[in-house]
Amino acid sequence: MDTPNNAKPMELKDLIIREVVKDDLPALEWGGEFTKYRRMYGSIYRDSLSDKNIMWVVTLPNSEIIGQAFVMFKSADWAAADGESRAYIFAFRIKPRWRNRGVGSYLMAFIEEDLQERGYKYATLNVAKDNPDALRLYKHLGYKITGSRSGNWSYRDHEGNLQQVNEPSWRMMKKLSNG
Ligand SMILES: CC(C)(COP(=O)(O)OP(=O)(O)OC[C@H]1O[C@@H](n2cnc3c(N)ncnc32)[C@H](O)[C@@H]1OP(=O)(O)O)[C@@H](O)C(=O)NCCC(=O)NCCS
Repeated sequence: MDTPNNAKPMELKDLIIREVVKDDLPALEWGGEFTKYRRMYGSIYRDSLSDKNIMWVVTLPNSEIIGQAFVMFKSADWAAADGESRAYIFAFRIKPRWRNRGVGSYLMAFIEEDLQERGYKYATLNVAKDNPDALRLYKHLGYKITGSRSGNWSYRDHEGNLQQVNEPSWRMMKKLSNG
């Protein structure tokens, strides 16, 4: 297995999962790839301050962010998140060099446990139909397809331009162990 910078192999128990703080926002642009989401992430961050959602990052012991996942507690799409029994996981990604080592599964397990502690019974998510790797992972983690979504949504990029996204997706759901 590749060991970045000849450091000792990464162990899951050494990773830190914590909530995003304001100073993390630039790092969530991942060196430019997600600069386009700057406004949207700023808005999600502001909503997180009033507990509408929670933004998680996973870091190495040296504080480098290597992954993220956000959780929405209440959405206009009540089937995804109703503020009571169902919460919606989104923007889940692990940096490429850290994939396939269990980091994503570790983060998902952490999030599911946190949701149970908050009294949620189900976790929901969308996965693009052209993302078979993520679909397979979710299935292995116990998520089941419950429907299909057009995946049409839009956001304002960092320059204020409206960007339309068309990403046909599967809606998946997992009954948490307290569900
Ligand atoms: C989807 C994503 C978040 C998964 O993160 P990850 O850290 O690679 O996830 P894991 O390592 O836990 O699992 C990936 C696979 O590696 C396997 N794996 C876990 N630990 C492993 C290890 N130590 N060695 C080798 N493989 C391992 C898992 O079993 C899993 O296999 P599966 O896909 O057959 O189920 C990541 O691939 C990603 O960021 N993709 C791009 C963004 C994306 O598609 N996000 C999802 C949007 S819905």
